[in-house]
Amino acid sequence: TPTVAVIVVAAGSGTRLGHAEPKAFVLLHMRPLLDHALDSIFGMKEPVQIIVVAPVDRVADARAIAVRAAARHEAPTGFVTLVAGGRTRQDSVDQGMNALLPSVDVVLVHDAARALTPAALCDGVVAAVRATGHGVIPGLPVVDTIKRVAESGAILGTVDRSELSAVQTPQGFPRAMLEAARAWAVQNGRFEALTDDAALVADAGNPVSVIGGHPLAFKITTPEDLERADLILQAAAP
Ligand code: C5P
Repeated sequence: TPTVAVIVVAAGSGTRLGHAEPKAFVLLHMRPLLDHALDSIFGMKEPVQIIVVAPVDRVADARAIAVRAAARHEAPTGFVTLVAGGRTRQDSVDQGMNALLPSVDVVLVHDAARALTPAALCDGVVAAVRATGHGVIPGLPVVDTIKRVAESGAILGTVDRSELSAVQTPQGFPRAMLEAARAWAVQNGRFEALTDDAALVADAGNPVSVIGGHPLAFKITTPEDLERADLILQAAAP
């Protein structure tokens, strides 16, 4: 039985992508984004519990995609769980947390929208959580100069980019730490404000550190992102 679970949050609408379909079901090289995202998870070194959080009216579709992905990877479907998501990303993560197997002690939360994430990045996050015993998230240095700008367009200041990191998923945590932090956030009325898992865990007073991310773990948000993902796959395939 797996000791690692990956919660793949795929219940967003993806309004910014400009498709009628929820984002996880939008096609990229003839396969839904969710199908690509599951490649990263099935490609991990150790067998993991996979919890897919799908839009409430698309759970059956998501299950069919997961079964197909498992077959392609010759993986059993016994540790694949499908659940319906909620209104916000945090609500969706909650639904996923409720489905954890008792044997799981490390939890990764991953955006289905980061469809091209290398499996090795997921393995690296698991290894770092085990080595440190705390929260670990991947991040990349920020290359652009970042300004704080007023509504009028006036520049208020330049942020020191040497201390900035653009963070990605999967975000990994010891299960007990993530569960306690989520309970703490709910009790203290912080749940709505803290949109990412690392912020929630850090807010409850736990250490979270950043390890090197990967350019392919970018989040597909806009039509341009989808086009970029398509070009990357075209270049990779013969
Ligand atoms: O909207 P955004 O791209 O920031 O969402 C990040 C991830 O969270 C996506 O993979 C999306 O499917 C997921 N999400 C969710 N449930 C929501 C909102 C977003 O699972 N209610």
